[in-house]
Order: sequence, then C-alpha cells, then structure tokens
Amino acid sequence: MTRPEHFVDLGPDLLHEQTLPRAETIPSGWFTEPRFHRLDLEAVFATTWQYVGHLHRLVEPGSWLACEAAGEPVVVVLDLDGNLRAFYNVCRHRGGGLALGDGCGRVLKCQYHGWTYQLDGTLRGVPHWNLVELFDRDDYGLVSVRVETWDGLVFVNLDPEAEPLANVFAGVSETVAPIRLAEMSFHKRVVYDVQANWRVYVENFLEGYHVPIVHPELMRMYDFSNYETDVSEYWSLQHSPLTKDEHIYGQGGRASYYCVFPNFMLNILPGRLQTNVIIPVAPDRCRVVFEYYYSDTESEAARARIAEDLEFADHIQDEDIEICEHVQRGLASRGYDRGRFSVKYEGGAFHFQNRLRRAYRELIGSGRERQAPEPLDPQQDDVGIRFPDQR
Ligand code: FES
Ligand SMILES: [Fe+2]
Repeated sequence: MTRPEHFVDLGPDLLHEQTLPRAETIPSGWFTEPRFHRLDLEAVFATTWQYVGHLHRLVEPGSWLACEAAGEPVVVVLDLDGNLRAFYNVCRHRGGGLALGDGCGRVLKCQYHGWTYQLDGTLRGVPHWNLVELFDRDDYGLVSVRVETWDGLVFVNLDPEAEPLANVFAGVSETVAPIRLAEMSFHKRVVYDVQANWRVYVENFLEGYHVPIVHPELMRMYDFSNYETDVSEYWSLQHSPLTKDEHIYGQGGRASYYCVFPNFMLNILPGRLQTNVIIPVAPDRCRVVFEYYYSDTESEAARARIAEDLEFADHIQDEDIEICEHVQRGLASRGYDRGRFSVKYEGGAFHFQNRLRRAYRELIGSGRERQAPEPLDPQQDDVGIRFPDQR
C-alpha cells in the first residue's frame, strides 16, 4: 500500500466536518509525521488554555512554578501583592532561564548572567552594565503570558486573543456540581511517559468503545448500555451509571469523564476526582500527568479506599498505555490510513477531531501557518504539508 496523497495534506476536503454516521477519521499521517507535531504546538497548544498546576503550589506570596505550554518555558508567579502573573521563563538578555523549578523569593534571577526581575516582570538588576549605551530597562521586562484559574486550577494561554478560561469551562461547573474541586484535597501526582502521539492518548480517553475489550474490570462497574457522550463547544462529557452491585467506589453512583479541548481531563467517580493533562513531547511520544483529589483523606477507611483507587487507576492506565502504543505502531503502518467511528460510543473522539480541524482552519485563516510547519530536518522530513492556497 503506498501512501495516499492526503497523508500529510491539509486540503479543504480533510478540514471539512462530516456528520458522525458518515465521518472518516483523520489521516494516520496526522498522528505520525513530525510536521504535524510542530503544527499542533502552533495551531492547538499555543492557542488554548494549558493546565499547569494547582493553586496550592502558589500559596506563599513570592512563590512561582516553572512549567511549559506549547513546548515553551513559562513561569507562573504569585507576586508580593497576591496577584497571579505568568511570563515566558526567558531572560531578555540572551535567553537564559529564570526559574529552573518551583521556588519562592522577592525577585526572579536569570541563571546565566544574573539579571534580576521584579515579580511584576520589570527588569531590576543588570550587573556590570555601566558602559552600555542606549539601553532602557523598561524595554527589557519579561514578556507576559495570560494566566487564569478555574476552581483552583491554574491555566496559561500563549494566545492574547483567546477566549477567557471561564467561557471554555462554561457548563462544566454546573454539570460537575455538587462536586467542588476547590473543596477537595490534593493527594498525589503521577507522571507516565507514553510512546504514542498525544492525540492517540486523548482519543482513547474520549471513547468508551474500547472498555469491554481493554478494561474488563472497569466494564463490570458500568451500566454500559447507558454509557453516553455529550458534546459542547469546548468540551465533551462521557458519563455512565455505575452498577448497583458493590464496587470500589461504593454502590451505584456515576462516572463522569470530561475532556476540555485539547488535552485536559476531569475524571469523576464518587468521592474522588482525578485530573489528567496530556503533553506532546515528540511526534510519537507524550507525557500524561494524573493528579488525584479526594473529599476525605483522613479516616482510615478513606486511606484504604484511596490506596485501592490509586492501584486500580494505575492498572487501567497500564492497559490504556499498552493499547495506545499498539495503535501508534498501527497508525505508522502502510497497512492503515483512515477509519470510521461508532456513533454510539465514539462521538467524543469525532468531536475532538473536528476541533482539531477547526484549529488548523483558524491557523490557515490567520496567515501564521508559514512560520509553523517548516521542517527542522529536511533529511527526515521531506514531504511538505500542503495548505489549500499552495496547491
Ligand atoms: S541571559 Fe539572562 S542574564 Fe544573561
Ligand atoms: Fe481506556
């Protein structure tokens, strides 16, 4: 089987949204080609809210957390007046790094030649600078990044024009109620490295179709015939009643799985909430960060339930990682190009692929695309992404 022309194409027929019962999946090259990794950083990750951590990491005035968004270094700061701020974590002298990890202090100091910045981003100390001419410190403050919070979770956005975070989460708080994330206790952070494109992992999250095959224990907890998917503009929700038989989350209740485009998830089961963020690392690699929150972390019974939950979630994650890594190899095969969707169980993955198409269309419409998809290594990457106006 030879590669079809649309393998790395972004022609209008591929960017056009179809109806779910007739839709084909996006081409496999979109999951495997290095150019699409760079395109995703530009079109998707540099234009959406990226979760960077919980506010509990920024309690002390003067504290900061070092993070990444769209592959770029960012630092989020709680300044001495209690204002949350974010900046590119890049010194304006010659690009040195400021915060190399989480920290706390009165200034941010570059780790290269020691320029210091106030926590509002203004340049303060510039060592050995008396012979420099035509230099105004005001021209060399840190470059700001947007930062907003939702229910105690901190997000940054590299796009100054992006929708406010509250608009993106509109409807989530209402449907999550009565669970209040801000009132739950943070328990643990777990990081997984996955040998698959970030979209493979996200799409796997977005459908319950694989549950009976990949997760037999999880399947026993669900009333699977009532597993449903709802989609909204910025997010999708899968939900299922849990069986009335005893399970590790009690009896009955409901599982709710939100995915806020592109890479943030809320997994809600009785008494517990887990956030996931999926970070693209390379065309065939992503990092998955789980954070666990519980309504009760103190009692002995609660601690036993938490231990059971962590073990069960880790087991389910192992099953998901294994299948995602198989899928990544399948997508890279000449034996596969495009597939179809289950209407009942894969509406979330379909919604996600349409959001992706929209992000690409918006990038094309903005005229920014020429900066993004240039190959880094022409030897490895000699097939161009063709935008419609280049045909
Ligand atoms: S690069 Fe920061 S002080 Fe030189
Ligand atoms: Fe799964």
